[in-house]
Amino acid sequence: MSKTVLVAGGAGYIGSHICIELLDADFKIIVVDNLSNSDKKSLERVTQISGKQFEFYQIDLRDEGALNDVFINHKIDAVIHLAGLKAVGESCEQPLMYYQNNINASLVLFELMQKHGVTDLVFSSSATVYGDPATVPIDENFPLTATNPYGRTKLMIEEMLKDIAAATSFNVVLLRYFNPAGAHESGLIGEDPNGIPNNLLPYVSQVAIGKRDKVSVFGGDYATPDGTGVRDYIHVVDLAKGHVKALQTMKQPKDNKGVCKVYNLGTGQGYSVLEAISAFEQACGHEIAYEIVDRRPGDIAECYAEPTLANQELGWQAEKSISDMMKDAWRWQTQNPNGYQDD
Ligand code: NAD
Ligand code: WQD
Repeated sequence: MSKTVLVAGGAGYIGSHICIELLDADFKIIVVDNLSNSDKKSLERVTQISGKQFEFYQIDLRDEGALNDVFINHKIDAVIHLAGLKAVGESCEQPLMYYQNNINASLVLFELMQKHGVTDLVFSSSATVYGDPATVPIDENFPLTATNPYGRTKLMIEEMLKDIAAATSFNVVLLRYFNPAGAHESGLIGEDPNGIPNNLLPYVSQVAIGKRDKVSVFGGDYATPDGTGVRDYIHVVDLAKGHVKALQTMKQPKDNKGVCKVYNLGTGQGYSVLEAISAFEQACGHEIAYEIVDRRPGDIAECYAEPTLANQELGWQAEKSISDMMKDAWRWQTQNPNGYQDD
C-alpha cells in the first residue's frame, strides 16, 4: 500500500518539486504551507504535471490546533519538513522572526508527530551548518557551526532531532542541501523569489530576461581559480529525488530505537560565479552583464560536497549537469517572466 507523506512547506520552491517526485513514485501526499513565501499556483501546477490530486491545507505549522486536525484526519506515515524562512541577510536583521518561525514551527510539528505516533521524518537542512569549512570537499563529519541566525536555526533543529532520535523511536534523516538551482523541465514550476533575489542564479536569470541591469559579482579576489566564489549547484529535481530515496530506504531499527542519519545532497563539483554566469549565457543564448564588486559580508570562498555517503546508503546521486540547471531555469523564467503572478 502506498505511504502517505505530509509535506510541510510543500508549496515552496524545493517542496513543489518534491511533491512531483513523490507522486511519481506513487506516494500519497498532503501539503501544509502558510504561503508566506509561496503561491498556491505552484500546487495547481504540481497537479497539472503529475495528473494527480492531493489535499492542501493553508496552515501555519505553529497553529497547533489546525495542524493537529490534519494529523487526526489523515493517516500519515512520514513527514518531510521544509517549512521555514531562509534568507540569510533577513535573518541577521530580524533574528527573532527566524527563531520564532523556524524553531517554533518545528517544535509544534515534532510534538504532534510524537502525539500521533508518526516517527519517520526527513528534515531540510543546509550546507550552511558547515560554516566556513577548513577544506573542501565537505563530508558529513566536518565540524558544525553557524555564522548567522538562519544557519543557527538549522543547526538547532538538527541538534534537537538528534536528541529526540536518541530518546524516542523517531527515525530521522537530515538532508544537507548545497546550492539548489534550476527548475522542473516542464517550465511549469520553479523558483519565484519575492523582491530582489538574494541568491545568485535567480538574480542572473532576472538579468538575462532584462528585469535587472547587471549581476554584481561579490568578490573577485578569493583564493579560487578565477577569484570568484565556488559553490556546488545541484538541480532541484535531483535534490527532490534524494528525498524519495531517503523515504524509500528508511528502516526502523529492529529494537525500535530512534535513529538520526545525515547526508549531504550535492554534486561534488564546484563552479565559480563566473562559470555559473557563463553556463547561463549558453542556455539563454546571449551575454549577461556583470560587474565585480566587493565581497558580500559572511560569504566563504569555496563550498562543495563530498556526496559519496548518500550514494552508498541511499543509492542516490545527482544526475543533471550545470547546463541542465541553467536551461531549465531559463525555460521557467521565459515561460513565467513574473513567476506565478503570470497566471
Ligand atoms: P521556500 O521559501 O520556497 O519554501 C519554504 C516554504 O515554507 C514556503 O512555501 C513557505 O511559505 C513555507 N513556510 C515558512 N514558514 C512556515 C510556517 N511557519 N508554516 C507553514 N509554512 C511555512 O524555500 P525553499 O528554497 O523551497 O527551501 C525549502 C527548505 O529548504 C527550507 O527549510 C530552507 O531553509 C531549506 N534550504 C533551502 C536552500 C535554498 O537555497 N533554497 C538551501 C538549503 C536548505
Ligand atoms: C552563491 C555565490 C556569492 C548573489 C545561500 C545560503 C545558504 C543556502 C544557499 C539555505 C556566492 C555569489 C550571489 C549575487 C554573487 N541557503 N553571488 N552575486 O551564499 O552560497 O548560499 O543559499 O540554506 O545557507 O547562505 O548562495 O546563491 O547567495 O551565492 O556574486 O548577486 O554567488 O557571493 O559566491 P550561498 P548564493
